[in-house]
Amino acid sequence: MTSTPAFVPGLAGIPAVESSISFIDGQVGILEYRGIPIEVLAEHSTFEETAYLLLYGSLPNEAELNRFRGRLSARRKLPDRLIETLRLLPGAGHPMLALQVGISILGMHSQRVNLKDRESMENAAIKIIGSLPSLVAAFERARKGLDFVQPKDGMDTAEAFLWMMSGEEPASVAVRALDAALILHAEHTMNASTFTARVVASSESDPYSVCAAAVGSLKGPLHGGANERVLDQLEAIGEAENVRPWVEERLSHKGKVMGFGHRVYKTKDPRSKVLQKLGNQVFEKLGGTPMYELALELEKVMEEKVGAKGICPNVDFFSGLLYQKLEIATDLFTPIFAIARCSGYMAHWMEQMPNNRIFRPTQVYQGAREARYVPMSERK
Ligand code: SDX
Repeated sequence: MTSTPAFVPGLAGIPAVESSISFIDGQVGILEYRGIPIEVLAEHSTFEETAYLLLYGSLPNEAELNRFRGRLSARRKLPDRLIETLRLLPGAGHPMLALQVGISILGMHSQRVNLKDRESMENAAIKIIGSLPSLVAAFERARKGLDFVQPKDGMDTAEAFLWMMSGEEPASVAVRALDAALILHAEHTMNASTFTARVVASSESDPYSVCAAAVGSLKGPLHGGANERVLDQLEAIGEAENVRPWVEERLSHKGKVMGFGHRVYKTKDPRSKVLQKLGNQVFEKLGGTPMYELALELEKVMEEKVGAKGICPNVDFFSGLLYQKLEIATDLFTPIFAIARCSGYMAHWMEQMPNNRIFRPTQVYQGAREARYVPMSERK
């Protein structure tokens, strides 16, 4: 007789894949991409180099990196018809939905990907990673009634994104901070959206569908969508003296404080430490924000109330304050997360396909059996 495995809500602690892409120690607060600590990558690497590391498994030499940068840069130029289609979307809609649409249209403008051919897969992955910043910027410009700003050759992702959004040369401190933030958001083991990507990939669907579905998962406020909610939350709190009563009220009815808690980390998320440092560097150069003082007070009160339960700041807690200083609209914070995380999704897609098996878990059925079909005339 076979026994049914116990049901674990949220599949907590259940391994869904074998992977060599990233590693987390949630007790100590360690995150590594291909074995390299993210603190080191955030300080010394670039988003392009990190994306290469995730996709190919090792750091590129100079020639490899330059070629990869060139290929990404070439993909930032969007087909005119795609830009026109983005213009037709309702400007009041959420940019994450626009991004899902944009990725799907990109797929419609693309050749069929051969899942047995590594080169065909690489081309598609580079096309998607290269296009995402342009899709977000194109929607942002379109909803403001502005023309798309074509990317310039030689600009890497962070600089190109800020340029395409505003049409102005961004400050180097802003480019460096955004570049590091993209590195920190690029990959994170079996989070909900990467798992979504793996599930869609497992049916041998195309990478555009893989990425669009993952973006849908990332949008939720329990996942990547928390970064914009953190700012809403700080705005709602308003003053430092309101923090304590606000937290007490929220915790009293088991409400969630956005930007805190994590399934894996039981200590402060290592990415939030680097983002906090980056934020401070940006505030020094571009001016501070009273919201930061409020965030520190919130962290202090949360530590006092629930720190012992391992509920600490996560990656979404400080990122919004940084993006706000870069004059990025709040509803674009999660799309920035998606621009970065797409490199992780594509790395997982490429890792999975050579040894793929379709995901097909089971369930614990709790409904009726052999029920009677009640004719309409007998129904109340
Ligand atoms: C990301 O998984 C990843 O790797 C994700 C991510 C990535 O890079 O991909 O790191 C990105 O999604 C970061 C998380 C962003 N979300 C938020 O900031 C939303 C607020 N956080 C929570 O909703 C929550 O902590 C989760 C969703 C992140 C994790 O949920 P779990 O593991 O299912 O934990 P849970 O909801 O079951 O909570 C366990 C306990 C509960 O208390 P008890 O019933 O045991 O008494 O902890 C409490 C919860 O009430 N708790 C919180 C809390 N998070 C957990 N209480 C108040 N505020 C919180 N934020």
